[in-house]
Amino acid sequence: MISLQNVSKSYKQNLTAFQAVQSVSLKIGKGEIHGIIGASGAGKSTLLRLINLLESPDEGKVVVGGNSLTTLPHRKLREARQSIGMIFQHFNLVANKTVWDNVSVPLELAGYSKKDRRERVNECLEFVGLVDKAKQYPAQLSGGQKQRVAIARALANKPTVLLCDEPTSALDPQTTGGILEVLQTINKKFGVTIVIVSHEMDVVKSICDKVTVMESGKVLQTVSIEPQGFVIPRDDPQWFIQQLGN
Ligand SMILES: Nc1ncnc2c1ncn2[C@@H]1O[C@H](COP(=O)(O)OP(=O)(O)OP(=O)(O)O)[C@@H](O)[C@H]1O
Ligand SMILES: [Mg+2]
Repeated sequence: MISLQNVSKSYKQNLTAFQAVQSVSLKIGKGEIHGIIGASGAGKSTLLRLINLLESPDEGKVVVGGNSLTTLPHRKLREARQSIGMIFQHFNLVANKTVWDNVSVPLELAGYSKKDRRERVNECLEFVGLVDKAKQYPAQLSGGQKQRVAIARALANKPTVLLCDEPTSALDPQTTGGILEVLQTINKKFGVTIVIVSHEMDVVKSICDKVTVMESGKVLQTVSIEPQGFVIPRDDPQWFIQQLGN
């Protein structure tokens, strides 16, 4: 579903180039929930943004759902991106738009008719349980509700992939549980492939099928998570905890 081949990204910091992601190769299967963990600065967010080309790689190839994003012309890339939703730690809602309008934005950009937009926004708000908040503004919502709006917005275009950057890091444990359930439902019910960056061990353990551990811009390894807990190739449970830097 997702394939990164020798992908690198550097940023100019002062006068030198800093390698945030270094020659990463990674395959994520269709329908998988794939975690990415690692210490702060390891390159997790950069890697996630390389998957939808929010960051364009200096080198390497990014293929999502059979589309080679790194070689698509601009217009085709925009289309391909519509099948990749994204949510963030701080929700990134538009403050001066209502809940309804926030969810409607991607549909407008995709050229939906007014009638289809109305139907789809309703469906998405119903799915996250926020139809009654449609006329409210983001500032009037709790953190969990804001994330649900962001999820509704990310689902609007019926994506096949959902990228999540620390989606529950700003939420309390109970609200976190609710959001994880929504993500799981999206995965199971709609078959959406989910990539989730997190520093919360419980999050990773509870919903991920596989986890990739990053350090200093590189992938250390990818492991499967079995229902009973981690499969630890290194025979060292502490090793994972250390990768999280806490
Ligand atoms: N736009 C940018 N300009 C310059 N440097 C950047 C930029 N974005 C990221 N970096 C650098 O790249 C490295 C990786 O950043 P990234 O945000 O991917 O890390 P992260 O693993 O997501 O960290 P965190 O857990 O703190 O969110 C960091 O050292 C960061 O300073
Ligand atoms: Mg980050």
